[in-house]
Amino acid sequence: MKNYTHINDIDDINSWIAEAIALKKNPLKDNALGKNKTLGLLFFNSSLRTRLSTQKAALNLGMNVIVMNVSGDAWGIEFEDGAIMNGTTAEHIKEGAAVISQYCDVIAVRAFPSLTDKEKDESEQVLSAFVKYATVPVISMESAIGHPLQGLTDAITITENTSKKRPKVVLTWAPHIKALPHAVANSFTQAMQKMEVDFVITNPEGYDLNPEITKNTTIIRNQEEALKNADFVYAKNWSSYTEYGKVLKTDFDWMLTKEKIGNAKFMHCLPVRRNVVVADEVLDADNSIVIEQANNRTFAAQLVLKKILENM
Ligand code: CP
Repeated sequence: MKNYTHINDIDDINSWIAEAIALKKNPLKDNALGKNKTLGLLFFNSSLRTRLSTQKAALNLGMNVIVMNVSGDAWGIEFEDGAIMNGTTAEHIKEGAAVISQYCDVIAVRAFPSLTDKEKDESEQVLSAFVKYATVPVISMESAIGHPLQGLTDAITITENTSKKRPKVVLTWAPHIKALPHAVANSFTQAMQKMEVDFVITNPEGYDLNPEITKNTTIIRNQEEALKNADFVYAKNWSSYTEYGKVLKTDFDWMLTKEKIGNAKFMHCLPVRRNVVVADEVLDADNSIVIEQANNRTFAAQLVLKKILENM
């Protein structure tokens, strides 16, 4: 594997999950694999889990790590081909990505969508430019429309937490005060479509995800009905896709409560706003597996880095 930018870069999800679980049991097993190799982590947006877990994963493999908050610390980067750069941008991605490739053996990039320009967001302008102009492998640490490290993590976490052959997994939209991207929900959906699970999405009117992504997946408007007999409930807010980037629903009646989720295991990618997305009683209960889920971010990233290093 050269790049990891999409859930579809996973050729066989069951073998990847098994490998990640094996890595988790013995995380330093391959600590010579990344010797003298450098991972560059480039953040256009904030992060806690992705930044620390990807760094930890690289260290477990013996890699060196360089981290840069691109938006705050680098020159303003231009992504338009043929741009007349007489405005705020000082460096074109053509030079930027090529230069970073001189210092790093692998580049990982986080760049969120604008949520104002659907076409531009769906073109994955930032991630695609790095893939095009970098001369080393590129990993997505959440792009405009996908979060494949999170999706892989979630698949690992569900597998570890079930003994059922085909558990019922529900992705439920949840309230939020801000307009959030679709990336986590998209990659979770794509990961579940690759797994042996009974997968259902529930969201209010106006919040259907991109139908190209949800095709063949059951969508139920009634949250209570969708949550019935769930083994896993994954809560996530996203802004409207059809009325692109808008917040259409401002009340909190889709917030997850103990009564709603029953005995299901609760998942969320974090960070999560308590008592807006989900009630304290859910997050603080034994059935919440959000911390274990966050821990698995390390092993998802480590598996991806391992596969890339083995291919170099
Ligand atoms: N889940 C996740 O990607 O967390 P961060 O935004 O903190 O990296």
